[in-house]
Amino acid sequence: MSFQRRRAPLVHSIVRLLFQILVKVFFKTLVVEGAEFVPPEGNPCLVCSNHGNSITDAVMVVGSTPNRNMVRLTAKSTLFGRRTITTFIMESAGAVPIMRKKDYAEGAKIDNVNSMEVIKQVLEQGDAVCFFPEGGSRFHPTLAPLKSGVAWLVSDTLSKRKNDPDFTLNISMCSINYIHRQRFRSDVIATYHPPIVLTPKTYPKLCDPSTAPGAVRELTAEMYRKLRAGLIDAPSWDIIHVASFAARLYLSETSSFTFRTNRYRPDEYVKIWREFTNLFSEAYQDAHTQSHQPPLDTEEIQGLIAEIKTFCDELTSLGLVRSPYSPGDDLPDLFPKKNPFDILLYIILPLLLTPIAIPGFVTFWGPTFLLAHLASKTFLRNALAKEGGTIEDTYDEIAHMKIVTGLVCGLLGASALLCIALFMILVMGASLWAVGMVLVGVPAAQWVSFRIMEEGWIAFDVLRGWVRIRALGEPKAAVLREREEGLRRRVLELFSSVA
Ligand SMILES: *[C@@H]1O[C@H](CO)[C@@H](O)[C@H](O)[C@H]1NC(C)=O
Repeated sequence: MSFQRRRAPLVHSIVRLLFQILVKVFFKTLVVEGAEFVPPEGNPCLVCSNHGNSITDAVMVVGSTPNRNMVRLTAKSTLFGRRTITTFIMESAGAVPIMRKKDYAEGAKIDNVNSMEVIKQVLEQGDAVCFFPEGGSRFHPTLAPLKSGVAWLVSDTLSKRKNDPDFTLNISMCSINYIHRQRFRSDVIATYHPPIVLTPKTYPKLCDPSTAPGAVRELTAEMYRKLRAGLIDAPSWDIIHVASFAARLYLSETSSFTFRTNRYRPDEYVKIWREFTNLFSEAYQDAHTQSHQPPLDTEEIQGLIAEIKTFCDELTSLGLVRSPYSPGDDLPDLFPKKNPFDILLYIILPLLLTPIAIPGFVTFWGPTFLLAHLASKTFLRNALAKEGGTIEDTYDEIAHMKIVTGLVCGLLGASALLCIALFMILVMGASLWAVGMVLVGVPAAQWVSFRIMEEGWIAFDVLRGWVRIRALGEPKAAVLREREEGLRRRVLELFSSVA
């Protein structure tokens, strides 16, 4: 049976547009890989993604899923039925509430029957439904074990369609990697993997009540493997951070200077970063289990990890970089690659452009950043005063807080603009032309102002590193340079030995 194409309700289109705007605002570069693996509108599909960045992940999936009008979200039930902005967004996006045991008191009845019915209906209509099978957002270096709910849903759906040989349900696993996760406007890569294609014929065990529990476990494990294969995932943040530095050492060999934030293509960078993370994780695990003869020279790798860490700590203490572990940032320019003309650009451009950015800063961005900062500070104080919350949860809630504050400011700004437009028409009798200019011009000017501030800040950082290096004096700089070159050589050797 084929599924009937159905027009997405207007609300969905509006919400999706809003999410697409948010994606543009929240992410500097978004790269979507494997878009062709998401079946087009009209084919039922489950999108399952890792959940490391609170509501941002939801915005990402809805705003970036290709070939689709709308992806129905699922979210913890406690987000629904309240009077908050998040509730409002989730409900208008047609999100489906899922009750989780951990949100309710011991012994409370957990009943997702209605929600599952809604999801099945939605799938019948050929829509996509998004799950975060880790069962909650978490700020951790490792992927959490997946809950089996999605696999049970599949088992249920396939069982009902046992006699329909053409029935297919695809699960698209989507690995989301943020390059600078805790920063506003990170680069982000969404990798869709080739789908797990489920039919009653190919997965008969899922359709039989006696074999279903085992089959559900197997399917969940398969989902986990796919998801993890696309992720930067390690036993500790340390490994991830050191690997990010190694990846930049590796890439800086080939890239050349540009007047841009990132010299590397984000997707290429994430690939190399993942390779190093896996290599370093393996060495780490070998050191902790010591069970088998490792194929890698574990000791050499552990030595390299330790030396990169020492080197990075030294760069920080010398004030050469804000943090050498900010993935995606330029390495400090220990090699005098930038010629004086480039440095002049770094000074002149911000000076010329700052005046253009000031009106936008005063009328919108300044107050917005201040509010977001205050909101997260208050939140942190309250969270730390409360017993039992872990710091990981706190980070997550702060990210959420900032986004909601930003959204409120954006909506207020848009309303103010509309009021001004009305005032122009009704009171000043302005022409439609003039009003249109204001409605288009003001947001455009705000955007330009924002981009100038963003690039100016980066230029300032580069300049600062450049000045500090020169202030160190040539002999000291030469020593650092030599150490960096040594590390780069070892990183390149390691990479070619495993490639
Ligand atoms: C499921 O995925 C396969 C492989 O990408 C594709 O050929 C097929 O059309 C998809 N089926 C549906 C119903 O989306």
